[in-house]
Amino acid sequence: MLQRPRRNRKSSSIRKMVRENRVTAHDLIMPLFIVDGTGIEEQIPSLPMAYRRSLDMLLKEIEACIKLGLHSFILFPKIAKEHKNKSGSYSYDPNNFYLKAASTIKEKFPELTLISDVALDPYNVDGHDGLVMNGEILNDESVGILARMAVAQAEAGFDVIGPSDMMDGRIQAIREALDKAEYQDISMMSYTAKYASGFYGPFRDALDSAPVLDSSIPKDKKTYQMDPANSREALIEAELDAMEGADFLMVKPAVHYLDIIQQLKVNQLLPIAAYHVSGECAMLAAACEKGWLDYETVMPETLLSIKRAGADLILTYYAKEFLLLQK
Ligand code: PBG
Repeated sequence: MLQRPRRNRKSSSIRKMVRENRVTAHDLIMPLFIVDGTGIEEQIPSLPMAYRRSLDMLLKEIEACIKLGLHSFILFPKIAKEHKNKSGSYSYDPNNFYLKAASTIKEKFPELTLISDVALDPYNVDGHDGLVMNGEILNDESVGILARMAVAQAEAGFDVIGPSDMMDGRIQAIREALDKAEYQDISMMSYTAKYASGFYGPFRDALDSAPVLDSSIPKDKKTYQMDPANSREALIEAELDAMEGADFLMVKPAVHYLDIIQQLKVNQLLPIAAYHVSGECAMLAAACEKGWLDYETVMPETLLSIKRAGADLILTYYAKEFLLLQK
């Protein structure tokens, strides 16, 4: 045998020398859930490594994450019922605690990157990412509200706008609205290939944002989020988002869509982000808690696999835990 691939695996030192991929703090984006109030820190039962926190507690958590080297965060609000209405108008209300919290976070930690969420589901009574009328999700009317929400977020101090709604044409509409308001330096991380996945369950528990059960309202998000059976469609979405002015393209979920991450990486030039979603993290947590999988092995292996598939950035609820394991 002239070729013995095992020679490049013979010691820890050689393995480190030939290692092709590494996950570092710079690759990770930490999702955070915020709720109005003070002194609140509630663990999410179906997503035990994540918490819903009021701003005071969240600031402490961000500080702890920064000490570990994290510098990028994506913020999701849990909105109280009394602020929800049909049009989701609280999303751009200057008194919205989410917008105020973003200003405080950026005042305290100006160097970090803060990413927003643009979608109507936390804000409207229907629990859909767009406006619901006569049992349908209205595209163009939704896009107008989403653009208004994005401008309010830019004004609050978010560095990157994160449209997660999957309406057609929203990237261009948001870009134009931001530019018109002179926020041309505010970036956009588009949820480009977001699938109608069953793996978002724990997230909807955390924010109480699932589509409401009512016969007049679509019970799922299949008319706007993508069909899990499709991959070519992801390339169409990527092409459009790149043309419409996105700065980052995201694939979501990540682990079950590694092929999509790779396809976008090969076919597009913008940085690719992948969202290791709540259900994917919950699966790992549950199997490890049962002792069926070894946490210290499989959690980092999962993040590495997402990176190896082509993700430049990984959004994961395990971001902090991953860095704690490296210590
Ligand atoms: C809603 C939104 C969802 C997630 C991020 N933004 C849920 C959904 O589309 O229903 C899911 C994230 C996760 O599961 O971790 N616009």
